[in-house]
Amino acid sequence: MHDAPSSSSLALPDNDQSTMPHHIAFIMDGNGRWAQQRGLPRIAGHKAGVESLRKTIAHALKLQLKYLTLFSFSSENWSRPAAEVDAIMGLLRRFVKSDLAELNAKNVRIRIIGSRQNLPLDVANYLMEAENTTQANTGLTLVVAFNYGSRDEISRAAQRLAEKVAAGQLKPQDINESAVSAELDTAGLPDPDMLIRTSGEHRLSNFLLWQNAYTEFIFIDVFWPDFCEEDFDKALQIFAKRHRRFGNICATKSVV
Ligand code: FPP
Repeated sequence: MHDAPSSSSLALPDNDQSTMPHHIAFIMDGNGRWAQQRGLPRIAGHKAGVESLRKTIAHALKLQLKYLTLFSFSSENWSRPAAEVDAIMGLLRRFVKSDLAELNAKNVRIRIIGSRQNLPLDVANYLMEAENTTQANTGLTLVVAFNYGSRDEISRAAQRLAEKVAAGQLKPQDINESAVSAELDTAGLPDPDMLIRTSGEHRLSNFLLWQNAYTEFIFIDVFWPDFCEEDFDKALQIFAKRHRRFGNICATKSVV
């Protein structure tokens, strides 16, 4: 980020949690360009991206954030070269093997969103293991969007609702916003208060289209592997100054 603060102090005073978001979502973009700039293969950018992801989780824990969602692999990412897709699957495997015990010890609850279809069986099992191991934890909820695409998620939810109607378990007139929300992969999770996308791109890229209806978007002009605590804190400072209206005419403080 160009105008990052020079000190590494937290964005908010320790005693001021009133403008702290409950749920932050990240589009971790720019791994490939980070690597290209250094004359490295794209995969090196993803490896460096995992380090950045670890630091981001650590900072979220320090901030006592409630929900952190990370867009790790999209349903559109299958169209990338097979070697790159395989490398990302490998990083996921290694991440679960090396970090699950520590995250569990830190009371982190892992939730996976996205389709389990088409995933290598062992990757699907690693994701299930991460969810099962941490399901009773009560600290940070870490939502990993893997093989996730919002249109796919909404289509799957619509199919399930249609099946319930066909089976006589649901009336068409009972399909309202909460019925749809309850069928999404994110059922039971609050919507993100803030979405951070790195790399300078200003797009949603099929990420949480339903859930981001009233989310504050913050775009940070650094590649994901370079995203650091200071950038995270700067984003929190920007969020704290936003006035969220949720469709109302009165601007309110960004209290969530
Ligand atoms: C976006 O950068 C990043 C991805 C598509 C993959 C992100 C994956 C990880 C950080 C690692 C895997 C996840 C876990 C949970 C261990 P890009 O490749 O689109 O970058 P570019 O826009 O510069 O090409």
